[in-house]
Amino acid sequence: MHFSQYCSTCCYIMRFVLFCVIFVAVNSVQTNDDSQLLSTIVLFRHGDRVPRKFAPLDPFGNSTFWPNKRGELTKLGVEQVRTLGRWLRNRYYDYLPKENSSRHIYIKSSSEMRCLTSAIALISGLFPTVVDPYRNETVSRHPFTLNTAPKNQDFIFEMAASCPKYVEAYDELLKTQDFRDIDASNSDFYEYLEEHLGVQIKSFTDVVEWYDTMREEDVKGFNLPDWTKRYYPTEMKKWYELCYKVPTYNRKLARFGTGALFEKISDLFDALINGSMNKSSSEMVLVLLSGHQTNIADVTNSLGMFRMAPYAGALIVELRKNKYSSKVFVNTFFKTDGSLEVLKIENCTVNCEIDNFFKIIKPFRISNAQIRGECGLPADWIFQPQKYQID
Ligand SMILES: *[C@@H]1O[C@H](CO)[C@@H](O)[C@H](O)[C@H]1NC(C)=O
Ligand SMILES: *[C@@H]1O[C@H](CO)[C@@H](O)[C@H](O)[C@H]1NC(C)=O
Ligand SMILES: *[C@@H]1O[C@H](CO)[C@@H](O)[C@H](O)[C@H]1NC(C)=O
Ligand SMILES: *[C@@H]1O[C@H](CO)[C@@H](O)[C@H](O)[C@H]1NC(C)=O
Ligand SMILES: *[C@@H]1O[C@H](CO)[C@@H](O)[C@H](O)[C@H]1NC(C)=O
Ligand SMILES: *[C@@H]1O[C@H](CO)[C@@H](O)[C@H](O)[C@H]1NC(C)=O
Repeated sequence: MHFSQYCSTCCYIMRFVLFCVIFVAVNSVQTNDDSQLLSTIVLFRHGDRVPRKFAPLDPFGNSTFWPNKRGELTKLGVEQVRTLGRWLRNRYYDYLPKENSSRHIYIKSSSEMRCLTSAIALISGLFPTVVDPYRNETVSRHPFTLNTAPKNQDFIFEMAASCPKYVEAYDELLKTQDFRDIDASNSDFYEYLEEHLGVQIKSFTDVVEWYDTMREEDVKGFNLPDWTKRYYPTEMKKWYELCYKVPTYNRKLARFGTGALFEKISDLFDALINGSMNKSSSEMVLVLLSGHQTNIADVTNSLGMFRMAPYAGALIVELRKNKYSSKVFVNTFFKTDGSLEVLKIENCTVNCEIDNFFKIIKPFRISNAQIRGECGLPADWIFQPQKYQID
């Protein structure tokens, strides 16, 4: 036997073993007979959208190139999120409530139109008989309440718009020497972009929205001008990714970025473990959170497992209880179009024991009572959430 033949047989076996390991790992999560699913939290990003902004010199800035208004979901975007909804239905069918869904399903969305539309599209995939926003079919079976809040009141999805102290801390960080050095060494790159786009670029954080727009034009098959080749995509992408780490760059910032969400997750998990929540034994409590790339980046970076979510990508957190030992643990996954990746929270194991999980997220938590003081909100500030009925 030639060495190469031996090697390829060996590789074949290795690949098979690897395949089995991966297959078993994924499958055991999916049909985990040893555990009962108590709750699933799905924090997902909206689907494909029209760019939010066009630079003055952008040849594709004319609205005739785009199907919808700036920033809004496209037909493809609706389909991407509905596909995620169908996938969730498939994975969790046995645990979904069959009769009155509203008791065990909580849906919250950022108030951005693309997120509200995404929430409805997800529901239409998860419960195919409900409203279908794209085809305008309004078959009513399960009514849902869609919770949202105006931006300046939204501590789950919009901390940068609702929490003045967060913005202060963020601006302070960008004034530190390390970040000033980045901008100083990028000055040629910024000037080049300024000249070709007709915009001002003062910091690497200004590169993000233009990278976003170029990428959207690129994937939609528009021919980007030749000048873009110098920095797009590689160089621009580097700063794009860094930019999504900055909002949770240190503990102080991470607490602002994720504190209200971690508080809600802790309270829910507590109530479920404690048995104080009225839930039948076979059903889980499903929490659907329709947000942005930033929200997923913030939560994953805070837990030491940073991910950049593509459109309709999702962070999934499952609360499970071992049927024999009664031990409760948390699993985390990153769902993208083609795959389900098992994530490991930093300082914990894949099946993260609940006490460890609570210990890790405790320093981030911000309660409703703390938020006014910590964010530096005015004394007469009142919280005004909104609800919409989806029939
Ligand atoms: C956009 O394109 C349309 C059709 O080509 C043209 O009539 C219109 O003037 C353009 N608008 C701008 C702002 O360039
Ligand atoms: C479903 O449950 C909600 C919340 O418990 C309740 O308000 C509603 O009346 C129930 N609907 C039906 C049809 O049972
Ligand atoms: C949606 O369907 C309803 C009922 O069939 C109809 O009255 C309405 O005009 C439709 N809306 C659109 C935007 O097609
Ligand atoms: C546990 O349940 C009791 C009532 O059933 C409630 O008063 C208590 O706050 C709950 N504890 C937690 C941590 O949720
Ligand atoms: C729990 O659910 C049962 C039946 O679904 C209902 O009769 C009871 O009032 C509920 N209790 C609470 C505290 O919601
Ligand atoms: C994990 O532990 C290290 C060392 O104590 C700490 O620096 C880091 O912040 C911890 N990570 C998380 C997610 O708590």
